[in-house]
Amino acid sequence: MGPTRRDVLAMGLATCGWAAAGGTAASAQPAHRPVPFGGAVYLPDLEADPRLGDAIVAHCQAVTPVNELKWISTRPAPDLFDFAASDKIADFARTNALAMHGHTLVWYAELPEWVTRLTSAADAERALTEHIVTTMQRYGDVARSWDVVNEPIPDAARRPTDRRDSHWRALLGDDHIAQAFRIAHDVDPDALLVINEYDVEFATGYFPAKRQAFAHLIRELVDKGVPVHAVGLQGHLRGGVPIAKDELAQFVADMRELGLKIMVTELDVIDRDLPGPADVRDAIIAAQVEDFLGAITASGPLHSITTWGLSDTYTWIRWAYGRSDGLGNRPLPLDENFQRKPMFDVIDRFRSIV
Ligand code: G3I
Repeated sequence: MGPTRRDVLAMGLATCGWAAAGGTAASAQPAHRPVPFGGAVYLPDLEADPRLGDAIVAHCQAVTPVNELKWISTRPAPDLFDFAASDKIADFARTNALAMHGHTLVWYAELPEWVTRLTSAADAERALTEHIVTTMQRYGDVARSWDVVNEPIPDAARRPTDRRDSHWRALLGDDHIAQAFRIAHDVDPDALLVINEYDVEFATGYFPAKRQAFAHLIRELVDKGVPVHAVGLQGHLRGGVPIAKDELAQFVADMRELGLKIMVTELDVIDRDLPGPADVRDAIIAAQVEDFLGAITASGPLHSITTWGLSDTYTWIRWAYGRSDGLGNRPLPLDENFQRKPMFDVIDRFRSIV
């Protein structure tokens, strides 16, 4: 008998920080390719629709909780942790021998009020440290990779040294980013620690300056010996906005030069402004994903790729970027009936590049 799903998972994912979780392997076998594939999931959707869990088990080797590991969900009070929702996703992962990608330990957004009322550096450092330690220790068996810091660069970055304002930055300064990675590494020296950003993929507007500031921050961290292991390119692609293929390829090559792995962490395509007909729109979306993944893999393989949902039935884009023609959005690899779309074939092709 060949290697079991668990064997393959343990082998394939252990190297990428997505070590196989415990628990019984699911019956379905995802189409194995060298580059692991993950799907983000929101607990109410997972609990409401068995098709979603089935699709994750059929296609994925990892899950990312969309909201359940954010401070607003796990931290109702200064002395309280509420892991009820995140435990359910972690248990789903364990049961199905999936890894869980921890999203996210430090972010400017979705902070409970008690955090935004902190006034001293000492209180902020204590809260941040306790959060990272407690959260990572709880899920260390199933979460082998973490978005330690999410979206540190402001949208309207002008200078390479620009950093996004946050309550953490206000109280702890820019060094809170390095601090967070050091704490995370102390908790779990084997975890893959990721710095995660969006809107660094495009050629026009403010995107080049944001990409430059992101690269500057990462280089600064690596030069200081901060334990950053991977760059997370969220990949919320703006349909119709050209991918900066050469510039993105150079950015990724520079990051690889620093010894960093490249993860696509939240791929979907915002198709609000794309043509209506499904076949036309799906082809444009697949072509843009091709440009995006082609630029990233010009210098080497993807480390992992995660889409921000699996089926068009469950996507944030529906309420954040709904279409004026009333047609459903089509941002993800599976349509609203969980059928594959051309985007999935593109993803699978790049998952096979090693
Ligand atoms: O579940 C409640 C519901 O009970 C309530 O009626 C409703 C109206 O207030 O809110 C619902 O919660 C919302 C949740 O999404 C589920 O839809 C929150 O208000 C809303 O803030 C939350 O938005 C999430 C957003 O991050 C902010 O946390 C989106 O689902 C999620 O897709 C989005 O994901 C982010 C990544 O974390 C970081 N990268 C960008 C990405 C897209 O914005």
